[in-house]
Amino acid sequence: MPIYHRLGQIPRKRHTVFPKNGGGIHMEQLVGNKGFTGPASLLYHLHLPTSVRSVRFVRSLDWEAEVDPMLRHRHFRAHRLVAEGSAVLDRQPLLFNSDVAASIVQPTQEDEFFYRNAQGDELIFVAEGGGALESQFGKLPFRQGDYLVVPRGILHRYRYTARPVRFFVLESTGYLRTPHRYRNEHGQLTENSPFCERDIRRPEELETHDEPGEFRIVVKQHNALTEMVLAHHPFDVAGWDGYYYPWALNIHDFEPRVGRLHLPPPVHQTFECEGFVVCSFCPRPYDFDPEAIPVPYNHSNVMSDEVLYYASSEFMSRRGIEYGSITLHPDGLPHGPQPGLTEKSIGEKKTEELAVMVDTFRPLKVARNILPVEDGDYHKSWL
Ligand SMILES: [Fe+2]
Repeated sequence: MPIYHRLGQIPRKRHTVFPKNGGGIHMEQLVGNKGFTGPASLLYHLHLPTSVRSVRFVRSLDWEAEVDPMLRHRHFRAHRLVAEGSAVLDRQPLLFNSDVAASIVQPTQEDEFFYRNAQGDELIFVAEGGGALESQFGKLPFRQGDYLVVPRGILHRYRYTARPVRFFVLESTGYLRTPHRYRNEHGQLTENSPFCERDIRRPEELETHDEPGEFRIVVKQHNALTEMVLAHHPFDVAGWDGYYYPWALNIHDFEPRVGRLHLPPPVHQTFECEGFVVCSFCPRPYDFDPEAIPVPYNHSNVMSDEVLYYASSEFMSRRGIEYGSITLHPDGLPHGPQPGLTEKSIGEKKTEELAVMVDTFRPLKVARNILPVEDGDYHKSWL
């Protein structure tokens, strides 16, 4: 994230001697993406971050796609899937391609291990629940409606204070970031952006653990899990600074745009990445011309697949969906309001809808395990 942040104690100059209380020096570590030309942070550990005692292969995570080439509009009632357990090990696959993988999970237990996704950035939408994302960069409290951005390689774990907890998860092959058109040449979010740096929450509290022992770290890479045992508590960072760290943005801090007449979907964009974008549909007043039609016109999203995750049961242009529904409108298939909803919307003043949209530039595959919760008649719901 292009905002400089620092926590704890760091030396005045980088790459210099930084003595520890009680003797010895801190171990400096540079963490950054894109061959250290992208965002990076410098961390100062009490112990060597490399002190691995053992390594063990855990299991493969091969997501199975359905074998059904018939193109149609799809609707899955994703919250009817059982996805209880660990926030990172028990995610239920939904949709995926080579750029992005969407899953859902209802964490019911706090993991005893630490987790690092080495193959993708993670965007966690907190549909329900609250707690803290703990990492080597400190504690980042989260609440319902948060997007948690966890750049790849960051060692972390979740702790919960408000249950039940439900996450809608995206894992990306590319580097997930705020849209380029919202930033000026210096990286600052401009007045045109629907959110600003003040809305972006960064790790707050750095707790430094000086504890030898055996600490399990589960690493995801090559669609498989490997366990590494570290010889000390991995949260042994005395201080850090830089631009690479987990951060949070609440969907209700996204300022929705409203016009005299209907504004197009890009006004809802919240994140960009290679191969897909993420948009937020938030409660807002409707278009204010007396002749305006507030619901969207029929449209064909040519060259992209459109996914909507319904974070509440209200949506202006759909009947038959529920909280936790996921719709997939594949490339080019026309879709829009269901019969009667266009006429009914005229003169309406506001919407309470809340949804996360993912538009992918390559076609998505449907994971086999969500077929049992599919609404098989959805493609006929415009009759
Ligand atoms: Fe659409």
